[in-house]
Amino acid sequence: MPSWDNRIYHGDCLRVINVLQDELRGQIRVIYIDPPFFTGTDYTVKHKGIGSRSEAPRLKETETYSDKWEGGLTEYLEFMKKRLSVMKPLLREDGSLWVHIDWHVSHYIKTMLDELFGYANFVNEIVWRRTNSPKAQSRGFGSQHDVILLYAKDAAQFETKPVYRPHDERSLKPYSYDDEKGRFRLIEIEAQGIQRTEGRKQFEWRGRTAPYLYSRETLDRWWDEGLIYTSKNDRYSKKQYLVDIPGVPVSDLWLDIAPIQGASKEYTGFLTQKPEALVKRVIESASNQGDIIADFFAGSGTTAVAAALTSRRWIVSDASEVAVKITRERLKQLVHRPDGASCVNDIGYKMINNL
Ligand SMILES: C[S@@+](CC[C@H](N)C(=O)[O-])C[C@H]1O[C@@H](n2cnc3c(N)ncnc32)[C@H](O)[C@@H]1O
Repeated sequence: MPSWDNRIYHGDCLRVINVLQDELRGQIRVIYIDPPFFTGTDYTVKHKGIGSRSEAPRLKETETYSDKWEGGLTEYLEFMKKRLSVMKPLLREDGSLWVHIDWHVSHYIKTMLDELFGYANFVNEIVWRRTNSPKAQSRGFGSQHDVILLYAKDAAQFETKPVYRPHDERSLKPYSYDDEKGRFRLIEIEAQGIQRTEGRKQFEWRGRTAPYLYSRETLDRWWDEGLIYTSKNDRYSKKQYLVDIPGVPVSDLWLDIAPIQGASKEYTGFLTQKPEALVKRVIESASNQGDIIADFFAGSGTTAVAAALTSRRWIVSDASEVAVKITRERLKQLVHRPDGASCVNDIGYKMINNL
C-alpha cells in the first residue's frame, strides 16, 4: 500500500473533491455525507462558558454553519448537485455513497441521485429513528426519522456484509423449543400460501408427500445432522438453533441506534452531530479494514472517529472552522477512551487549511 496520511481539509468541499480527483479517482470505498438539510436554521455549537462565583457556568453558543438559502430551494439544489456530481468518480467500482438527509429535501435528492448514479444503482432508503420524542403537531404528525439514501457506483459489483443487532425479547420468542443442543425455533420446509400455487412439484420424503422447498438430498443431509423436527402429526420442519444465529438481521429500518443527547458520552455540543454507531454501521457493512472512507460535510468529525475506530483510512472536510476544531479535539481525545486505545495508528492526520 502506498504511504498514506489521513486528512482533514478546511474549506468548501467542492474544491476539496476537485483537488482529490487526480490523486484518488476510483479509490474511495465509502462516501458518507450528512450535508445541510435545507432547514432554514443557523446552527451552533454549545459549550460551557465560565460563570461567576455565584453563578453556575452558562452554556455558550458559537455559530457553526448556516442552512439558510437566499435563493431558496433552487439555490440549495444547485449547491447539492454541483457537489454530488463530482463525488461519483472518486468511488471505487465496488464503492458506495450514503447521503444522510431528511423530509425537507429527501425526495429531490433521491431523483437527483437517480440521475447522477442511475436508478439501477439505488440500493436502499434507510430510515433512522433520530428521536424518541417527536414534537406534538397541530397539523400532521411529528417527524421522528432521517433518511439515508444508499447508492452503489455499480450495483453489480457492490456488496454489503450482513449486519445483525442483538436479540431482544421479541426476537427470542419463536425460540421456544429446547433439546440437548440448546434453544431452537422451527423453520418451514414445505411451501406455504402463494408458494404452493406456483406449480411447485410434490414428492414423497420419509412417508410424507408435500411440496418441499428443498431437494431430497438437502433434506436427507439435514436428517442425518439431526436438524429435522417431526411434529405429532408427522409434519417435518427444520430446527434453527439460537447459537447458530448471530442476532437479528438489520433491515432498512434502523430503530436500534440511539440519538445523541446531552448525556451521551460522545456528545460534543455540535447540534447536528450523528451517532458514531450509525456511521460505524455504514462503514463496517460496506468496506474492509484499510479501505478509504470520506465525509465531505464532516461537522464534529463523527466519520473520522468511526473510521479510526474501525481501522479504515479516512478523509474529511468541512467549511466551518469551528467544526474542524471540534473534529481535531475529538480525535485527540480518542486515545483516552477505552474503545479508542487500540486505534492510535488511525488517528494521525494531515491538516490542509484554506482550500
Ligand atoms: C449536518 S452537519 C454534519 C454533522 C456531522 N455528520 C456530525 O456527526 O457531526 C453539516 C456540515 O456541513 C458543513 N458544510 C456546509 N457547507 C459545506 C461546504 N460547502 N463544504 C464543506 N462543508 C460544508 C457544515 O459546516 C456542517 O458542519
